[in-house]
Order: sequence, then C-alpha cells, then structure tokens
Amino acid sequence: MDVKIYEYDAVIVGAGLAGLAAAKELTEAGKKTAVITKLHPLRSHSGAAQGGINAALGKNDSTELHEFDTVKGSDYLADQDCVEFMCTKAPETIRWAERMGAVFSRDEEGDIAIRPFGGQSKPRACYAKDRTGLTLLQTIYEQAFRAGVEVFDEWYCSDLIYEDGKVSGIVAYDLRNSKPAIFNAKVTMFATGGHGRAYRFNSNAHANTGDSLSIVARHGIPLEDMEFVQFHPSGLGGSGVLISEAARGEGGRLFNSEGERFMTKYAPNAMELASRDVVSRAIMEEVRQGRGVGKDGQSVNIDLTHLDPQIILTKLPELRELAIAFQGQDMLKEPIHISATAHYSMGGIPTNINCQVRKSPTEMVEGFYAAGECACVSVHGANRLGANSLLEALLFGRHAGESMVKQLEEGIELRPAKVSDANKCINEMEKLRTSNGKERVPKLREELQNGMTRDAGVFRSKESLEKQLKLIDELIIRFNDIRIDDKSKTFNTDLQEATELGHMLEFSKFIVYGALIREESRGGHYREDFPTRDDEKFMKHTYVYMDKDFNLTHEWGEVVQGKFEPMERKY
Ligand code: FUM
Repeated sequence: MDVKIYEYDAVIVGAGLAGLAAAKELTEAGKKTAVITKLHPLRSHSGAAQGGINAALGKNDSTELHEFDTVKGSDYLADQDCVEFMCTKAPETIRWAERMGAVFSRDEEGDIAIRPFGGQSKPRACYAKDRTGLTLLQTIYEQAFRAGVEVFDEWYCSDLIYEDGKVSGIVAYDLRNSKPAIFNAKVTMFATGGHGRAYRFNSNAHANTGDSLSIVARHGIPLEDMEFVQFHPSGLGGSGVLISEAARGEGGRLFNSEGERFMTKYAPNAMELASRDVVSRAIMEEVRQGRGVGKDGQSVNIDLTHLDPQIILTKLPELRELAIAFQGQDMLKEPIHISATAHYSMGGIPTNINCQVRKSPTEMVEGFYAAGECACVSVHGANRLGANSLLEALLFGRHAGESMVKQLEEGIELRPAKVSDANKCINEMEKLRTSNGKERVPKLREELQNGMTRDAGVFRSKESLEKQLKLIDELIIRFNDIRIDDKSKTFNTDLQEATELGHMLEFSKFIVYGALIREESRGGHYREDFPTRDDEKFMKHTYVYMDKDFNLTHEWGEVVQGKFEPMERKY
C-alpha cells in the first residue's frame, strides 16, 4: 500500500486546549509542527467545559490556598511539586489567555469575574458565562492558526512509532479515504482528552473514547492511577449531559424526593459545594435508599428557582437551554433532575512535571510527551477540583510546548521512519474492515458501558469489580468475532467505531484492575468493602502494564509529598 511519510519537528495528537496550546508554542519558536485530530479542532471536548478555570485572583485568596484545596481535594494523592507549579502559574495563565483574546465575564468593578466551585475555600473559578471552555478553545485555535500550525483534521491516529525507548512519530489514516500515512517527528505529544464514553452515563463527547491510552499501553508503557474516575454530581438525569457545577456555585440546592436538603447529612459545612466525589456519593446514596426522583427514581432535584432569574439568564443561559432541550425542564420555573455522571479521568499516561512520558515510575520515554486529560502528571490525585481541568490543559499544554522546544534546541535526532512502520496498523485496519463475524459493535459497547456504570462506578466492591473484569475479558474475545457492514474506505464510521471499541475494552480493564488492587477508598474511588483511606498501604500511584495477550501487571510509584500533611478530609 502507498504510505506517505511526512516529516516534522513535532507532531501533536489532539486539538483541544492542551494540544493547540503546545502547538502554538512550538510553531512560534520556529518548529515545524503538525496537529493530528479525528475531529475539527473546534469540536474538541475542551469546548464543552462550562463553569470556569481556577486561579487565585480574588482579594482574600492566595496561590497557597489554591494549592491546599487542590491537594486536599485530591485526597492527598496529587504530586505536590506539580500542584505548586500549577497553582503558582495559574494567575499568569489567565492573564495570558486574556491577552490572547479570551473574553472573560466581569464583576461590577470590571475585574475578571470569579465564582465559587466545590471543594474550594474561596471563589476562584474565572468564567465566561457558562461557556468558559468554548471561549478558551476559540481563542487558542485562532492563535495557533495565526502562528501557522498545520492541522490534519479528520485524521485518526492508530499507532505510535516506538522502539528502544524512543518515540519517533505516529501512524494515522485519513478518515476521508482510509489512506494511511506516517508522521515522522523528533518529538511527539498526545493530548487526546478523556475516556468517559466507556460509561453508560457520562458527560463526554462521543469522541472521548480514550484511544491514546490503549495505543500507549500496547507498547508496554504503563497507565497511572486509572481507577480514579470522576463522577460529576450533576449530569442531566437519564442522559448524563453536563449541568455545570456553576449551578451549585451560583446557589443551586439539592433535594431528595422527600423535599429534604440532604447535603446537611453528608457535608454540613460545605453543603452542595463539597468536593465532587462527596456530592456524587451523597446523590447516589439517596437514590439507593429509595429517595430518588424522576420516572425511574434514579435522580435528585437541583433547585435554582429561589435565585434572581437574571442570574440564570445572564450567567447560566446554556445550562437552562440544555435542561429544556433534553428534559423539558425550565430551571427558572422548576427544579431539574440530575444524577452523578462519569466526567473525568484523573489517571492516564504518566508524565513528569515537564510532561515527558514515563515508561516506569523512574524512567522516561525519549521524545514523547502528554498533557491534558489523557495524561497523569499528577495534579488531581484521587479527585479533581472543578475548574482545575481547563487550567491543567492550558497550563501544562503550554508547558509541554516549551519543554519540547527546549528538547529540540538541545538537539534530538529524527530517527527516520520506514514504510513498514505502518504495516501493523494497515493489517489491523484491513482485518477489522473486512470482518464478517456475528457480533455487533453497538451491542458490545452497550454491554461494556452498562457494566462499567453498574460495577465500576460510584460504588465498587471486590465482587462487582471481579464481575466487570470477567465481562471485559469475555467482550475482548467476542470482539474478535465482530461484523462490519460498511466495507467502503470513505468516511467509514463503522470501522472507526469498531477501532474505538477495541480501545475502550482495553483501557477499561485498567480502570477495573486498578480499582481491584486498591483495597481502600480515596477520592473518586469508593470500595464498599474497604470504606476508609489507608495511607500506610496505598499512599501510592498505581502503574499498570499490559502484555500482548491483554494480561495486566502492576507496580507502585511514590507520591511526591510537600508542605501539606495528609489529614482527614471534612467538608
Ligand atoms: O461543572 C463544570 O462546569 C465542569 C467543570 C470542570 O469539570 O472543571
């Protein structure tokens, strides 16, 4: 097959905030840079982030307080050197975004407006109404283009070129015609976002299938802390579509079917603004105890009707429209039904503070970087604070760009790629495209998603996790017997969805495996059979490795401690 080989200084997979911010840095430094994305950049999931981006800009706030809230929110599993770096640089990052053209909402004094978010001792989420991610994404997209970044949109990255501890680019194919190409590069970065589509109820875009996680894992590179999946407290009941934490930040209250403001029982001080793991568990506990609302009793109410309607109309207009469109509920007039929804991956591809990928807790991969949700740097530990994800993506995306520029300037050789580097991908793609078995992709995907929500969700136990692990192993076997109806090579979405399902099956196994070996409860990981945090045994990062037969093994990595001693979390 005809395989074109492109040559670049830097190749970045993913065109959300992290990828575009890195690409802008590289291009401005004169480095020839390509961005590969399976979407159009402006459809990246960064654009769906609603409520805000954190920075200690408030009069009584400090970067140290931001650090403390982040470390406490992480249930003390975050690496404190990385948290300090992020929180200290957050105010400058906001000013930079503003200078680049991001139009933030303003307070009465004309300063960038800030709103309260969960788990934070001060209001510090800077926002653009309830479209903060979209505003930032549009800004960085324009700036990256201005700098001259080359974007290959609607291209699907299917493999990493990795040999002898060094990455020298990727293999991808053009979704328009299924033609493969090699993007040979001195430095390569993954910024591919989250994996929430592995769950039945999730707040994620359809594209969030976590492809890069299994691409990396297939090469024997570990994934870190994958058991930590964040369940956002407010997804629209039934669909999981995000209703921003800004709804609670602006004063929304949670009630069960008995009209009880139940957070008084779970977080009497912070109430609805406790950290996300705490609020999500409270909601699901109310549902489990039969105090849910909605047709199936699986939701609770969020009530904003006591607020001045102008707050909703001017600060939360998108949320109102979403609730009307998806549920026919107008938050100006009535409470709306919400439930915990899979939202964010705290774990991912392990990196050091400079975003360089690790191949073990102590060794690095040459020429390979990752940032944003697909990476684990780790600033979120076991639970992320709301509005720290846009910050992480933008700040570490830029920082990854700077790190790659530095490495390029220090001198890193291009290892020339060979056409045969694409053989494995081409063979796998052909095998999938021509498959004529009995199993259907949507059916297998549905079984995976239902199982993940039911057995590896907000509440977990040895029994439920072993059941889910068994299911995944069965699904991996059944996946070998799938049938693809569309045999064409033009925008073959059947083929793409099958490829994505293959990835989802593999990385989901990491989530379940990590949750099984971590016999404690911490942040977003709650084991009913081990309900307390166990610092003695598990104040550690999980590194899980996969062999070619999908068997997993693990080792533990040190958590970087700092000025904040682990304490019991109270909200
Ligand atoms: O609730 C939200 O607006 C989500 C923000 C985030 O996940 O950081």
